[in-house]
Amino acid sequence: LKIISSRYTLIGNKIEENIAVAFSNKIEAIGKLEDLKDQFPTAEIVERENTLLMAGLINAHIHLEFSKNSTELNYGNFVNWLNSVIEKRTELVSSCETECIETVLDSLIKSGTTAIGAISSYGFEFEALKKSPIRKVIFNELIGSQPHQVDALWQNFLSRLEESSEFNSDRSTSSIAIHSPYSVHPILIRKAMEIATKRDIPVSTHFMESQAEREWLDSGKGDFKEFFEKFFNGSKPVNSAENFLNGFSKPIAFTHCNYLSDSELQIFKESNHTVSHCPRSNRLLGSRKLDINKLDSLGIEWNISTDGLSSNSSLSLWDELQTALYLHSDREPKEFAFQLLKSVTEIPAKQLNLNSGKIDIGRDSDLLLIDLKDDNFEDLSYIPLHLILRQYRIEKVFIGGDEVV
Ligand code: BEZ
Ligand code: FE2
Repeated sequence: LKIISSRYTLIGNKIEENIAVAFSNKIEAIGKLEDLKDQFPTAEIVERENTLLMAGLINAHIHLEFSKNSTELNYGNFVNWLNSVIEKRTELVSSCETECIETVLDSLIKSGTTAIGAISSYGFEFEALKKSPIRKVIFNELIGSQPHQVDALWQNFLSRLEESSEFNSDRSTSSIAIHSPYSVHPILIRKAMEIATKRDIPVSTHFMESQAEREWLDSGKGDFKEFFEKFFNGSKPVNSAENFLNGFSKPIAFTHCNYLSDSELQIFKESNHTVSHCPRSNRLLGSRKLDINKLDSLGIEWNISTDGLSSNSSLSLWDELQTALYLHSDREPKEFAFQLLKSVTEIPAKQLNLNSGKIDIGRDSDLLLIDLKDDNFEDLSYIPLHLILRQYRIEKVFIGGDEVV
């Protein structure tokens, strides 16, 4: 058992001063250092002057397999990007093997990310994920719109799902991602949702990322028409947006959602669906800005995530938070910073069904101790904003109570 005594602690929506936290693999007690010492006389004590303790960050939507990308892909327009992904994916994915993924996972942990929702297209990152102390939900991706490919793709998906289930543990959950409404046949979606419902595992999907997707699903026209003609010798959309949304009987984590209609927003609200917001990826692939004000006014919860290096230049949530802070420029920065920190802790914990994301008794001890140098805070409520602006050094990282950095 350890006791950390820091100058500041982020608990819920508040910065507390001179509070200590006692934890094993779970958080055992929160209080004054002297009281915790009495309660746990044999505990190892870490006392740090100008530091802040907070819950570890959770990146709910990330594609590790594309980590080798730097300058290979086309940016600016979603369908142009997708064309370049299809052209380069074999080369890109096969050039980032286990060691390369391990390096990425290490740097994620060092940047304060203690849990991820890893979208896995091929299962090539399983070995690295298995070894890493990071907490993970592995979203095995189901893709395939063409009827003649459906059986083979289903079998391939099932074998990845089972392979990743073999290392299920308190740190690892094998789960399901449905690629998108334009790329997955409704029969596959129905079969996948049967498994997800029976196993009670979280489900992730991409939805309404581009104007092209909106047009294609609504009218079978636009940039996707040419794309489907090129790769699948002409076809019609396999789902409408409405049918796609009707296929989900449990809350789903939908990534992007830049082009939702009002009726879709109502469905999100009524079904407790949530959103993964990836601002840098959206910027690079030509998507409009997500309307978080609308989501907030309807009580639809959203996280900030990075997506993969196929559409980002960094997997650090601090970089992504900073982008979000500047992007949503109508938000008052001090208050918005609290909401942003929640969007990478408490909210994604709920979406991924994790017991971390919050400093609270009984929660898993995924924690960060951040070195605030000799910076001085007269008004403590500015601390979240400065955490996002200044990228302070993460001095210690704990996952399940283990010190991993
Ligand atoms: C498909 O497999 O049908 C597909 C894959 C990527 C984009 C669109 C469709
Ligand atoms: Fe994605």
